[in-house]
Amino acid sequence: MSVIQWDNDLCIGHDLIDTQHKRLFELTTKLYDIALGSGDKANLKLLLLDLYKYTLFHFDEEEVLMRKHNFPHYNDHKHEHEKFVATLDALAIKAREDTSALDIEILNWLSSWLVTHISIKDKMIGQCLSRDS
Ligand SMILES: [Fe+2]
Ligand SMILES: [Fe+2]
Repeated sequence: MSVIQWDNDLCIGHDLIDTQHKRLFELTTKLYDIALGSGDKANLKLLLLDLYKYTLFHFDEEEVLMRKHNFPHYNDHKHEHEKFVATLDALAIKAREDTSALDIEILNWLSSWLVTHISIKDKMIGQCLSRDS
């Protein structure tokens, strides 16, 4: 069962960033599978680490792109990224000690953050890039 689903309406119009967003959705789907009992719990720690590392990589790519194009809302956007990373970090630490710490509520929060951030904030980057090209 997949709770988070990619929708092409979430595309921001930049192939690299869109591909990275899809990857974030894939990793989150795997976490849902574990939390719902259909995935292998033994992979949880590794998966959380993957999601954490991939999120850092993706945010970094986005921030480079924003700086390159003088995106006017850079500081606000970067701040949102930092807050999300801090939450993800706390979740990974908790799950390391207790694998039951990964519950549906946390995953719902995580996926809803992703959907909202992409559809509002990241789309603003997409608009800026299309104006710039
Ligand atoms: Fe993004
Ligand atoms: Fe972003």
